[in-house]
Amino acid sequence: MTDTTPTLLAEGISRTYGSGDAAVRACRDVAVQVFPGQLVVVRGPSGSGKTTLLNCLGGLDRPDSGQVWLDGRELTALREDDRIQLRQTEIGFIFQSFGLIPVLSAAENVEVPLRLVKTAGSERAERVAELLGTVGLERHHHQRPAELSGGQQQRVGVARALANRPKLLIADEPTGQLDSGTAASVMDLISGLVRQSNVAAVVSTHDPLLVARADVVLELHDGAVVERLTGQQSLAEHGDAGSVIGAADVPPAR
Ligand SMILES: Nc1ncnc2c1ncn2[C@@H]1O[C@H](COP(=O)(O)OP(=O)(O)OP(=O)(O)O)[C@@H](O)[C@H]1O
Ligand SMILES: [Mg+2]
Repeated sequence: MTDTTPTLLAEGISRTYGSGDAAVRACRDVAVQVFPGQLVVVRGPSGSGKTTLLNCLGGLDRPDSGQVWLDGRELTALREDDRIQLRQTEIGFIFQSFGLIPVLSAAENVEVPLRLVKTAGSERAERVAELLGTVGLERHHHQRPAELSGGQQQRVGVARALANRPKLLIADEPTGQLDSGTAASVMDLISGLVRQSNVAAVVSTHDPLLVARADVVLELHDGAVVERLTGQQSLAEHGDAGSVIGAADVPPAR
């Protein structure tokens, strides 16, 4: 079954930082579309514009030109407060450095997005318990981030990102700070949840495990998409160059 309406559609995305001689064209005329349940991976060397692109797609930043539509609504045409509201309800973010609030427990961190949209208390508690179960942390809900391992912290990050059942998931190098074994289990979790919950996902990563599972891999160089391949094609062409995971973990390229 194919869904003909992309959850995320972006066209002509360009973003330049600074001006004159100091101008950096971090994003150049990038187009992306992502359907429900699809996993799009963005890869490319450091400085190629991955974070810039993800921030524009998720409404954390505004491109200088180009349009982003989320479920048919033009994100780039919204006023700041409407954009923030849409972000809170429709988009989940996962950050490389987890982005958890240190003084809150795992459960309270997951609860934050639910509070922001004023979900009722009983429903919040139910949803938090369900989410912590989904990411395998049901026995850790009272622990603060400093009392959790890196992998557990990112599991909290995943649970928080999915709290409001977003249509779009944006993850910027979600396993960049994890060792290879932990990274693999977090990647499994993310890719599994994308399929299960039918969320459209854009993830920047060098991780061959996730590249292998991607429906589409966008290769960025100097802010421009230089190649658009399936996950398997991308691995076959680029192997695990630049990967953060050992060669033993790489599925055989076809
Ligand atoms: N706020 C900013 N002001 C000026 N230049 C910036 C800013 N943010 C990013 N850049 C520049 O834009 C380019 C793209 O940066 P970006 O962070 O998007 O790359 P990246 O692919 O995410 O890199 P990395 O893999 O290291 O995270 C780089 O040349 C960077 O120096
Ligand atoms: Mg980056």
